[in-house]
Amino acid sequence: MEVASVIAGTGSFVPERVITNKDLEAMIDTTDEWIRTRTGIQERHIVSEGETNSSLAIQASEKALKMAGISPEELDLIIVATFTPDMSMPSVACLVQKELGAVNAGAFDLYATCSGFLYGLTVADRFIKARPDSKILVVGSEVLSQRVNWEDRSTCVLFGDGAGAVVVVGARDGRGIVASHLHSDGSLWELLTVRGLGTRYPITCEMLEKGFQFIEMNGREVFRHAVWALESAANEALESAGWKGEDVDLFVPHQANVRIITFLRERLNLPKEKVFINIHKYGNTSAASIPIALDEANRNGLLKPGSKVLMVAFGGGFTWGSVAMKW
Ligand code: ACO
Repeated sequence: MEVASVIAGTGSFVPERVITNKDLEAMIDTTDEWIRTRTGIQERHIVSEGETNSSLAIQASEKALKMAGISPEELDLIIVATFTPDMSMPSVACLVQKELGAVNAGAFDLYATCSGFLYGLTVADRFIKARPDSKILVVGSEVLSQRVNWEDRSTCVLFGDGAGAVVVVGARDGRGIVASHLHSDGSLWELLTVRGLGTRYPITCEMLEKGFQFIEMNGREVFRHAVWALESAANEALESAGWKGEDVDLFVPHQANVRIITFLRERLNLPKEKVFINIHKYGNTSAASIPIALDEANRNGLLKPGSKVLMVAFGGGFTWGSVAMKW
């Protein structure tokens, strides 16, 4: 039987500090009711002093490795999907590699915003196909609280911090990734940006005054593109996998807005219990949202060997994609 990529362990970690919608009411012109009805979010976890992207990533990774029963020395590759690294150099992946003691692993960061985890999982899958004995750690980790303007009510209510990790290995027992599709459309980049902190707008007082260090989003336009892209990516994966909507045991979409998830659920004709939602607790954690959701679903017994799982994600760039796998 041909080798396929399976997830041997999952882990996640979110900071202890919580900001509720009520807390936000005291900070900006918003209401708990607006945030809950327009987004589904009730609270989000935010880093405290001393916590960084890599510290979240490391804690999620340790849990995933423990569940997989794999030691750090056995890892061949570490991929960290993020757009909020500790530093421009080195990568978060190298900091994770050092702290875990993964002395035999290559390590790199992957930058595909909210779709980053599915991009990472797809890269890991292709790596496993080429080298079936590989053991790969794929992490999604973000500290978005440091990229939002806490005075901009249209964005600051949406995002949270956290990390999720999975260990990917090869198996020949009929389980594993059966389809994955990645897409992008850079022509729409201006709809969702952090303009500064790179080489186009280097760090100057003027750049900081313009707020280019923060996430800027045309929410309505992003929403419109997201629903179209996510539905088409979901259908593409279903078709490649030879599945119908009703075959899916658990749908794990990127958690950006509960209205987007509800739209997808209806279009795919899925019952509520087959759709995993945790956005109320964490907000949008970008690349971390799907691996955190997978870990929660896994630890709550919603994923059994052979369960058919469909994942879809969409984010800035634009990037989007889907993965279908038999757990
Ligand atoms: N509290 C109260 N009112 C608000 C708030 C707030 N926090 N934010 C915006 N409003 C107001 C607006 O000012 C506007 O008022 P107006 O009509 O008087 O101008 C009104 O609410 C409606 O604003 P919209 O932006 O049209 O609200 P919408 O229903 O589109 O919801 C949202 C906004 C939640 C951002 C939605 O558009 C969305 O979820 N977009 C997609 C996000 C997404 O998928 N992102 C993908 C990935 S993110 C990444 O890659 C990092």
